[in-house]
Amino acid sequence: MREEGLLTTGKTPEDVELEVGLRPRKLSEFVGQEALKERLSILIEAASGRGESVDHILFSGPPGLGKTSLAAIVAAEMGAAFRSTSGPALDRPGDLAAVITNLEAGDVLFIDEIHRLPRQVEEVMYPAMEDGQLDIVVGKGPAARSIKIDLPNFTLVGATTRVGRVAPPLRDRFGYVARLDYYGSDDLAAIVRRSAVLLDTTVTEDGCHAIAYRSRGTPRIANRLLRRVRDYAAVRADGLVDAATANVALEVFEVDEGGLDKVDRSILDAVIRKFGGGPVGLSTLAIAVGEDPETVEDAYEPFLILEGYLQRTPRGRIATERAYVHLGVDFIEGRDQGRLL
Ligand SMILES: Nc1ncnc2c1ncn2[C@@H]1O[C@H](COP(=O)(O)OP(=O)(O)OP(=O)(O)O)[C@@H](O)[C@H]1O
Ligand SMILES: [Mg+2]
Repeated sequence: MREEGLLTTGKTPEDVELEVGLRPRKLSEFVGQEALKERLSILIEAASGRGESVDHILFSGPPGLGKTSLAAIVAAEMGAAFRSTSGPALDRPGDLAAVITNLEAGDVLFIDEIHRLPRQVEEVMYPAMEDGQLDIVVGKGPAARSIKIDLPNFTLVGATTRVGRVAPPLRDRFGYVARLDYYGSDDLAAIVRRSAVLLDTTVTEDGCHAIAYRSRGTPRIANRLLRRVRDYAAVRADGLVDAATANVALEVFEVDEGGLDKVDRSILDAVIRKFGGGPVGLSTLAIAVGEDPETVEDAYEPFLILEGYLQRTPRGRIATERAYVHLGVDFIEGRDQGRLL
């Protein structure tokens, strides 16, 4: 089996199992994203004050930044039931109809990966969001007829890692579109501190920061690294997580001092050594590192681009000088889009 990079933003089975326990339940437990939290709390308080359900909300942003957590928090803060499904699970209009007709007044319907809703399902969504009406065709051929059902008030909360792929008419029907950004290291350290308490582990202040520093701006990764460091501390040290223990542990798990893991390094290595520094197309690059293009694009590239190791150009990906330096490969000045002048 191929070994996953420790820093993948995708969910591992362990993440799925343990994230539930680490998930913040209230807005006040959710660390960081202050401006977003303030706007959300205004929406929530105003709607509760009027005794209405909150307007439809779309959360967008890279994996592991807290979209699902926030969706559940919106429901909890409203005292509403949280019903969860996903774009790919709603294959046909009938699937959506089944979910939506089961809602009760005030419920929050969460649709993860909403950019993957099929077009004909999206079209059923529009009147449901706007007029609270379900409008579907039942039967086929001459027996087909359109039926309209009045729906109870509900709040649709969508989440997407690809806001650009959400059809504009769907996006426009959300009353609030919130974008989550990568977290700063103080926020990540606070997340590690909070998770350590929940995991019953003692982590020193510098230990929190050592983990935060290598978490590439992502709470899910901070929590995962904390679990690995905790394992290491339990069996190779005295159980206490301080910076020294965290650094050695992360070294063992091949997370380097820049917060890059094996897969990141193999992406940079491929661009530099196999493709002369680039430009190289996404799918070619993905094949070279044995990942699928979507994983490279969603889970690895954003951080490599953010940190200035990689550049995205119309002709493909290019390694920057920083990538050469990081891998200890000589960078030759005058390199023009990967070709020597
Ligand atoms: N602001 C935060 N404060 C505390 N913990 C957080 C925060 N954001 C995320 N987490 C933690 O990170 C984990 C991942 O968050 P979540 O599942 O909400 O991310 P997501 O954006 O929905 O990811 P995906 O796009 O992969 O579905 C959660 O279990 C939670 O413990
Ligand atoms: Mg999620």
